[in-house]
Amino acid sequence: MATVADTSPSSHPAPRGTCPFAPPPVYQQARHEEPISRIALYDGTPAWLITRHEDVRAVLADNRFSSDPENPGFPFLTEAAREFVTVRPTFIRLDDPEHGRLRRMLTGDFTVRRTATMRPEIQRITDELIDKMIDGRQQADLVSEFALPLPSLVICLLLGVPYEDHDFFQECSRVLLHRGSTTEAVVDANARLTEYIDALAESKRDNPDDGILSRLVARGELDIEDIGAMGRLLLIAGHETTANMTSLSVLALLRNPEQLAHLRAHPEAVPAAVEELLRYLSIVQTGLVRTAVADAEIGGTEIRAGEGVVLQINTANWDDDRYPGADTLDLTRDTRQHLAFGFGVHQCLGQPLARMELEIALETLLRRLPDLKLAMPFEDVPFRDDMLIYGVHELQVAW
Ligand code: HEM
Repeated sequence: MATVADTSPSSHPAPRGTCPFAPPPVYQQARHEEPISRIALYDGTPAWLITRHEDVRAVLADNRFSSDPENPGFPFLTEAAREFVTVRPTFIRLDDPEHGRLRRMLTGDFTVRRTATMRPEIQRITDELIDKMIDGRQQADLVSEFALPLPSLVICLLLGVPYEDHDFFQECSRVLLHRGSTTEAVVDANARLTEYIDALAESKRDNPDDGILSRLVARGELDIEDIGAMGRLLLIAGHETTANMTSLSVLALLRNPEQLAHLRAHPEAVPAAVEELLRYLSIVQTGLVRTAVADAEIGGTEIRAGEGVVLQINTANWDDDRYPGADTLDLTRDTRQHLAFGFGVHQCLGQPLARMELEIALETLLRRLPDLKLAMPFEDVPFRDDMLIYGVHELQVAW
């Protein structure tokens, strides 16, 4: 039975309600009643919880809010994240101008135009994975056989990381993103991943390929530690997010048969459907964190320098004032300004790639598996409430 402590909007993260796609009901309620409210983080540290679309967007666009965890009052979501401050940061945890200087070294690799050149290769990988998954079988786990290998193969190609090492880096990533990992486990996984990527980057000096790591080494502007930190960020962000969006999207479509039928009848609507699925599922469910470095008024609340904020992009994307009937998956709705990729200077660098992977994955699955269905009771689907990126650990499907 829920207790007062764990249903109060003051705890973070709050428990989920009956719908596994929905943001925690207490946060939804907070958005109506007290959209900027006080919460206690895992160790009791206070922070502001921000739940409305308008307010989340305003903070993300405001340089009085910093992403740098070295600033006083930074809201850490786990003990391990706090310990992590000592680890060499890369641009996701830096502010401008340093953030921009490092990010600009990669923007050319993730433009819509550059990403489009990868389309045939991603289509080929997608088809091969489906061929293998359905070969002589009627059922499989979509996560391990399709949703996870697809973006992992793609980010390996882009970076110049050997895919044969996927068991190793996926395991490190699992430890780093598990909310229950001990600090020791996180420090150890990060050290192993750092050692691996640094050595790989170093090896590109003598044996360059056309991947991002080789290009960063050839540029000669960064030391190996900086290149390694960027490599770690891209490797993890590049596969965990898209993998979870893919399997959770398939599940959401299977649970909304009329929306699935619409998509099957209108395959040209897949790009719009991807945007609505991004909004509806908002997989970065634990929220984005910032700390105020100057006093700022947001939505009528005074936030003081040194106070931390947790931005719930899931409740923001379910804000009825912005998206009427937001709790319904409606593949034809206007999804403009959804915040699934964040907003402002840190807005997701890989979004053109993520969009294309999701479009190809969904279009190809629906076309090639017209009878795709869930092959496990919905109640038994293991949702990733234990992870920093939401999704499912396993999804048995049949065709
Ligand atoms: C559906 C898939 C994805 C989702 C939902 C997603 C979500 C996000 C979000 C919410 C942020 C903002 C973080 C913040 O403001 O603190 C972000 C940043 C970032 N993402 Fe993604 N992401 C996805 C896929 C990818 C992919 C495929 C890549 C790389 C190949 C990637 C690389 C990055 C990087 C490098 C940043 C940091 C940007 C910066 O700080 O300037 N992401 N992502």
